[in-house]
Amino acid sequence: MTQTSAAAPAWTTRRATGCPFDPPPARSGLLGREPISRVTLWNGGTAWLVARHADQVALLRDERVSADNRRPSYPSLSAASEATRAHNRAFITMDEPEHNEQRRKFTGDFTIKRMEALRPRIQEIIDELLDAMEESGPPADLVTSFALPLPSLVICELLGVPYEDHAFFQRASAYLVDTRSTVEDALTASTELVEYLGDLVERKVSAPGDDLLSRLATGYLATGLSTREECANEARLLLVAGHETTANMIALGTCALLQHPEQLAAVRDGDPRLVAGAVEELLRYLTITHMGRRRVALADIEIGGTTIRAGDAVICAGDLANRDPEVFEDPDELRVDRQARRHLAFGSGPHQCLGQNLARVELQLAYPALLRRFPGLRLDRPLTEIPFRTDMAVYGVHELPVTW
Ligand code: HEM
Repeated sequence: MTQTSAAAPAWTTRRATGCPFDPPPARSGLLGREPISRVTLWNGGTAWLVARHADQVALLRDERVSADNRRPSYPSLSAASEATRAHNRAFITMDEPEHNEQRRKFTGDFTIKRMEALRPRIQEIIDELLDAMEESGPPADLVTSFALPLPSLVICELLGVPYEDHAFFQRASAYLVDTRSTVEDALTASTELVEYLGDLVERKVSAPGDDLLSRLATGYLATGLSTREECANEARLLLVAGHETTANMIALGTCALLQHPEQLAAVRDGDPRLVAGAVEELLRYLTITHMGRRRVALADIEIGGTTIRAGDAVICAGDLANRDPEVFEDPDELRVDRQARRHLAFGSGPHQCLGQNLARVELQLAYPALLRRFPGLRLDRPLTEIPFRTDMAVYGVHELPVTW
């Protein structure tokens, strides 16, 4: 890290007891008091913590800000992510022009049009999962019975990854997003996942199917445009990003709605337009990627009266941007009928989420289907006993015991 300071408070994602949907209390007040402040990271280094929506948008779109996690001052999440950071490079941690060269291989796969065309198939998967949940009867863990298998099945079909292997790749991906993982476990998980996906892409060269990895195999690997390693790293990014995030939005979003019965009723009974707006509001209110967008300044940058020096680490706290009163009225209130579209839950700038159109379709179908199937849905345990994912790169719940 570039600077150390005894005064800078520790970066923490610990939430207040009984208030699991608000940003960590350690960050409360920063928006009004100190929109650009210093924080101390797990390894004793420091980073600039950027709170305001406008400042984050400006920085995330600024070419003088790098997402390359190999830079010495990059503010990594944990010892495990530091140890694996030069490993398995993919476009999420690349800068231009390399980033766009790689990302554009996939933009056609995730257009609104293509994702909208998946609606009937996604609805079918949802109905099957809800049938199984209903058949086995209450109680159920919403994470294992619905929230996790839904996006996992969808991304597996899209990529052409056999869902039968889900126990393996879900466990490996859990190690990668857990800040408490040991260096050894994270390295093993990451290597196994890349080996598995590399083999899969190679097999698809001679036996392609109608899926994204087959297109990668025949269009890039077989033609020499990409190496096996590049294909495997890209597949790993899509597989992990494609299910960890949406799964947590489904479970945490349901948990939040259960604490706000009027908002829940609006989503359950609302038309598709209201539901689409409610999804944006839940994305804003919950900001599950709660560890912030992590970057390194490549030049001195003046922002909000502060000079960020070349080489300084920067964390754009999306959870604070999404509670910025300059952009959202009464930001701490969950209001499913508000216009929340300017939220930064999918990031901003060149790295803005590639899978956002898919996530939107999944969430727009999942919440109302679940709430309509089980109108009496409720938590089977007090909220205080729900295990929240404080230490994971993606926030949410480890399990959500529900009954109906
Ligand atoms: C990037 C959030 C679902 C694939 C991102 C970023 C955020 C994010 C905040 C920006 C990272 C950065 O700037 O450093 C979410 C949330 C989701 C979701 C909240 C669900 C609710 C998905 C899905 C996919 C996906 C379903 C499917 C493949 C990606 C990829 C990137 C990305 C590939 C990297 C884009 C780039 O660097 O150009 N996501 N995501 N995400 N997301 Fe998502």
